[in-house]
Amino acid sequence: PAGAEVGEDGAVRIAGVDLRSLAAEHGTPAYVLDEADFRRRARAWRTAFEEAFAAIGAGVDVYYAGKAFLSVAVARWAHEEGLRIDTATGGELAVALRAGVPGEDIGLHGNNKSDAEIDRALAAGVGRIVLDSLVEVDRVAEAAARAGVRAPVMVRVTTGVHAGGHEYISTAHEDQKFGLSVAGGQALEALRAVLARPELELLGIHSHIGSQILDPSGFEVAARRILELRSALARETGVLVSEVDLGGGYGVAYVPGEVALDPVETARAAARAVGDECARLGDAVPRISIEPGRAVVGPTTVTLYTVGTVKPVTVDGAPTGDARDARDARDDGASAEPFVRTYVSVDGGMSDNLRPALYGARYSARVVSRRGAATTVRSRVVGKHCESGDVVVHDVELPSDVRAGDLLAVPVTGAYGRSMASNYNHVPRPPVVAVRDGAARVVVRRETEDDLLALDLG
Ligand code: LLP
Repeated sequence: PAGAEVGEDGAVRIAGVDLRSLAAEHGTPAYVLDEADFRRRARAWRTAFEEAFAAIGAGVDVYYAGKAFLSVAVARWAHEEGLRIDTATGGELAVALRAGVPGEDIGLHGNNKSDAEIDRALAAGVGRIVLDSLVEVDRVAEAAARAGVRAPVMVRVTTGVHAGGHEYISTAHEDQKFGLSVAGGQALEALRAVLARPELELLGIHSHIGSQILDPSGFEVAARRILELRSALARETGVLVSEVDLGGGYGVAYVPGEVALDPVETARAAARAVGDECARLGDAVPRISIEPGRAVVGPTTVTLYTVGTVKPVTVDGAPTGDARDARDARDDGASAEPFVRTYVSVDGGMSDNLRPALYGARYSARVVSRRGAATTVRSRVVGKHCESGDVVVHDVELPSDVRAGDLLAVPVTGAYGRSMASNYNHVPRPPVVAVRDGAARVVVRRETEDDLLALDLG
């Protein structure tokens, strides 16, 4: 995070808090969240988009995508920084409401919202419900009728642009569950269906093209396709919808050498695409919204672990069983000379960060409790769970004297870390400790074995 500093003795402080004292007080593993960094990133995305779109006369709303990580504290911080909250379930909606975020500043997503979730969203007066299927048009209209309100809705469409990771592919039809196809005509059909229901107020069109996107051109292509659809609807019905949501997906840097999307450049490119396309179509510029999650919270957090065992393993050069792709095979030493890999086991693992096991995601790590030896060993940081895919950091150079008791920090774990954590092997989930101005405050407490046993009725 932005507030991290390495001291003379090699110990790391974040926002003025020494990670050694934090570990002593709160235990490990723990997610350490730099509040000022979170607020700064939230502001950076909001102001970048506001300024870029002000230049073409468009207003902007930034929704923080709570799926990346949501707690009462972060919902409050995001809202205080002028962001709204994007929720994907009744549970996330409950957190945003508990934080005191007004319903009108909350959006509800989901490809299979329950009637209870829809009713709750309408009762809370959410600012928008994003419809994901034709069935849902009727479902939300009926819920609105029951509640005696008019439901503000957007229609989520698939533009044929699917981006994410380092790849960028464009296809006419996407074989996945979200949204309504622009090319296939279901998007237009859903928009017409919404206009035909007086219980629904059509705010606009929504698209989300992927996550961890490092090439911003996909947003421009998607924006053009949405604006064409908007224009087609206007030509047919006379209704030019007032809002377009470009979704989230802005990529962050996980490992050295990766370059995060810059908010200002991304916003300017998006504004240029929207401005040019509206001019070409002869349409008024819509209000724009975006939904960054990872880019706001990802880099704000490190996971702090304690090293338990250290074990050298000779890798003989043959591909190992857990190699998932060519990159893994290379890291695993395929067709290389035999070498020694140091397996460093920590007190957490795939239960607090599923991303390496699930996506082959890359992270880095460093010893943060002391200055280690200047020489390094090729290491793999692994967890304490009962399977060999329980990897935290695939390949990292650690001090050659790395040993039990060292504190190890893994950066950029704020997004989809705690939010996808599990209790695999009955491991209680770690706390989230917020640091700010030299002080640490627990914002989500550590689970206990009693918490887990409380669910077990014997
Ligand atoms: N809006 C919508 C409609 C989304 O589906 C998502 C993410 C976002 C916004 C926020 O995307 P972000 O800015 O955080 O990339 N568990 C995966 C990521 C799944 C993202 C799903 N949707 C991971 O750990 O990489």
